[in-house]
Amino acid sequence: MSTTTAALSAPTRPGRRLHPVPVRVMHWTNALAMLVMIGSGWGIYNDSVIFGGLHFPGAIKLGSWAAQSLLWHFAGMWLLALNGAAYLLYGIVTGRLRERLLPIRLADLVQTARDTLHLKVAHEDLTTYNAVQKVLYIVVILAGISQVVTGLAIWKPVQFSGLTGLLGGFQAARLIHFGGMAVIVGFLVVHVALSLLVPRTLWAMLTGGPRLPAKRLP
Ligand code: HEM
Repeated sequence: MSTTTAALSAPTRPGRRLHPVPVRVMHWTNALAMLVMIGSGWGIYNDSVIFGGLHFPGAIKLGSWAAQSLLWHFAGMWLLALNGAAYLLYGIVTGRLRERLLPIRLADLVQTARDTLHLKVAHEDLTTYNAVQKVLYIVVILAGISQVVTGLAIWKPVQFSGLTGLLGGFQAARLIHFGGMAVIVGFLVVHVALSLLVPRTLWAMLTGGPRLPAKRLP
């Protein structure tokens, strides 16, 4: 049998879902962990503000006083860091991260940005992310990693003094940590609005979405 015939007659692996179960579980766990981290972070911030006029209203922070917010923050941090590490490991080992988020072409980026500005946000093909989505997902993943690293530097500035020093000291690390939160909150506003504008994407992140074309087994 020739190689081509053998390949064609090879059994096919049933097409996997666009968002396999582990991705869905990790995505929603991350959403929960992020909400806990943001709400409790605002509570801790209020106790020692960075920007004079900026206080977060009691209704949107987690924890009635700073010590309680801190307990929430420490509980959420393990969920965020472990779940995030699992997501990255899964994405790298299965090749999913590269497949979904790369390549990013400048021409596609410009075209998608133009379409979005003209309010053309139709997401006909759920199986591929557009260039803007890819950039936003990469930015938010990097922001998540930065939050864990800067968080460590603020939490244990003595034990991680090298890291804290590298970040420019305790106050600088605190400022970067705040900036990372702002990037994530900004992302969340756009991300949730878009998923509500195109509810099929939300349904797919809940149920798995369409099956991708089956791959032939080697
Ligand atoms: C809490 C509300 C959230 C909702 C309703 C939501 C919804 C969604 C939906 C519908 C998708 C699929 C998009 C598509 O197929 O076009 C998605 C993917 C994604 N979301 Fe969210 N999300 C939420 C929170 C978050 C948070 C807090 C983060 C990170 C900070 C995040 C990061 C991502 C990433 C990186 C992807 C791509 C996942 C992949 O394909 O591996 N999401 N989200």
